[in-house]
Amino acid sequence: MTSEAGSLNRPYVFLPATPVASGPPLLLLHGTGGDEHDLLPLRDLLSPGAAVVSPRGLVLENGMPRFFRRLSEGVFDEEDLVFRADELATFVRAATEQHSLAARSLVAVGFSNGANIASAMLLRHSDLLRGALLMAAMVPYTSPPDVDLTGFPVIVSNGSRDPMISHEETMRLKQQLRDRGAEVTDLPHPGGHRIDRDALERAAVILRTLDVRAG
Ligand code: MLT
Repeated sequence: MTSEAGSLNRPYVFLPATPVASGPPLLLLHGTGGDEHDLLPLRDLLSPGAAVVSPRGLVLENGMPRFFRRLSEGVFDEEDLVFRADELATFVRAATEQHSLAARSLVAVGFSNGANIASAMLLRHSDLLRGALLMAAMVPYTSPPDVDLTGFPVIVSNGSRDPMISHEETMRLKQQLRDRGAEVTDLPHPGGHRIDRDALERAAVILRTLDVRAG
């Protein structure tokens, strides 16, 4: 297999699995203005002891790291989104190989901009991941690719008081995923544009039911 080590040339954190790992390895994807360290505490809550790959978004918006460009709040530069989704997919393949993770074992856990790049990547590279947890997530593409996601587990956790994401947009995202065969679990919360602790606990229970593979 061709080594894609060059694709790892970006800031990221890798945490190896501990002997007592009890859930799937995680691909952590931070929100705008965050970095590769932000979501590391989620490991203990979602998949204790699991391997973690946590890259930094390579786009800067007024100095704030993101995973792709946007034209304004909630309006995405879809050309850049496609480019960055493919770029992240290449990174994920390289990290999987470099750190001897089982193919297709990572569960993407994204918050806000990180959730949007997770679904954008999933919709173009359905063979890469084991599952996805999308928190404060929007619809990534105006016309999503016609990909087969049959049986693919996706958890969507959006807040009913999120000023950036309407109820209709959350419904559209879930419908687009279901239309492609994904098994979507809805874990709504009563808050705004944030990560919800109760939803995380419920998501952890679901993640534990996924096959645990080497990593
Ligand atoms: C995005 O650009 O991905 C969304 O507007 C969420 C955000 O980053 O604030």
